[in-house]
Amino acid sequence: MKENASLSKSGDKIFFKINSKGIYVQKKQTSHNGLRLRAQADKQKIFDELIRKDKSLRHLFHVPTIRSTSTIKKSFSFDMEYCHGDSVIDLFEKRGVNKIQRICDSIFYYLDWEFSHSKLSNDWYAPTIRKVEELKMQIDSNIFDISSLDTLIDLLVLNKNINIHEGLCHGDLTFSNMLFTDKVVLFDFLPVYFETPYQDIAKLLQEVELKWTYLIANNIKDRAKIKIAYVFLKKQINEIIKELVKRYKINYTMVLIFYTIAIIRILPYVDSSDIIALIDEENKKTIQKIYEATNAK
Ligand SMILES: Nc1ncnc2c1ncn2[C@@H]1O[C@H](COP(=O)(O)OP(=O)(O)OP(=O)(O)O)[C@@H](O)[C@H]1O
Ligand SMILES: [Mg+2]
Repeated sequence: MKENASLSKSGDKIFFKINSKGIYVQKKQTSHNGLRLRAQADKQKIFDELIRKDKSLRHLFHVPTIRSTSTIKKSFSFDMEYCHGDSVIDLFEKRGVNKIQRICDSIFYYLDWEFSHSKLSNDWYAPTIRKVEELKMQIDSNIFDISSLDTLIDLLVLNKNINIHEGLCHGDLTFSNMLFTDKVVLFDFLPVYFETPYQDIAKLLQEVELKWTYLIANNIKDRAKIKIAYVFLKKQINEIIKELVKRYKINYTMVLIFYTIAIIRILPYVDSSDIIALIDEENKKTIQKIYEATNAK
């Protein structure tokens, strides 16, 4: 059996293995937080089933099938189907805007499906406050101005009576967690502190505002081409969000709240000072927008 491992952001390991049936992928826990990977596998299984059941979505999306799970010496792992596809960077380098347009149409359909399966609820408040408090403890105040988290808590209090759409979300819907075949392959599902499609919109904003996949990619060949593609992608994603805001009467201030928490959550996993500075600047800008929207009411 051949294998080839690399370390993921969270410290879990990903292996590409070959056996008599072909290639498969294994994700294996190396950190103490085994619950995280187990919950990821559970969420991936649920989405695999839900997407297969939907008559339209199954033609547009694919979730790698989980073949088995195991726990050896308290270390959880799961094996899944290997999907051969292009990354978004491959697409940006090799393919034209038409392909990106088609992917954005599929993403619109996917988000619409999530919203149509959601219900309005006010239960976001307590877990969101807990998450921000937890981040305050985790983030090094020498590298990031954590007083902005206190401002964020004040803004959460002022918005606490707002109802939002509770329901399905991938949880880490950046383009780095998609591969492109004739469908969009979704993986690296993330259980989050509050399950709402707002989390997926927040992650798409992270992708286009920070050029996330480009930011974390290595060996980029044609930077200019990728930057141009991001201009197009940003426009498309913002149009999708605008349409959903109208269709589902989404509270955009709340989207910005989930967005700013999404980018702050990256901090414990990065050590690049450039990325930290970018997140700091984007967070300040977003908190200011949340402040203005909250006070305009
Ligand atoms: N089922 C799969 N088939 C083919 N390639 C895959 C599959 N799952 C993951 N990959 C490849 O491995 C890379 C890393 O996978 P993944 O996104 O699950 O981990 P990560 O982001 O590094 O980890 P973390 O779980 O810490 O967020 C992906 O970008 C993708 O290229
Ligand atoms: Mg990933």
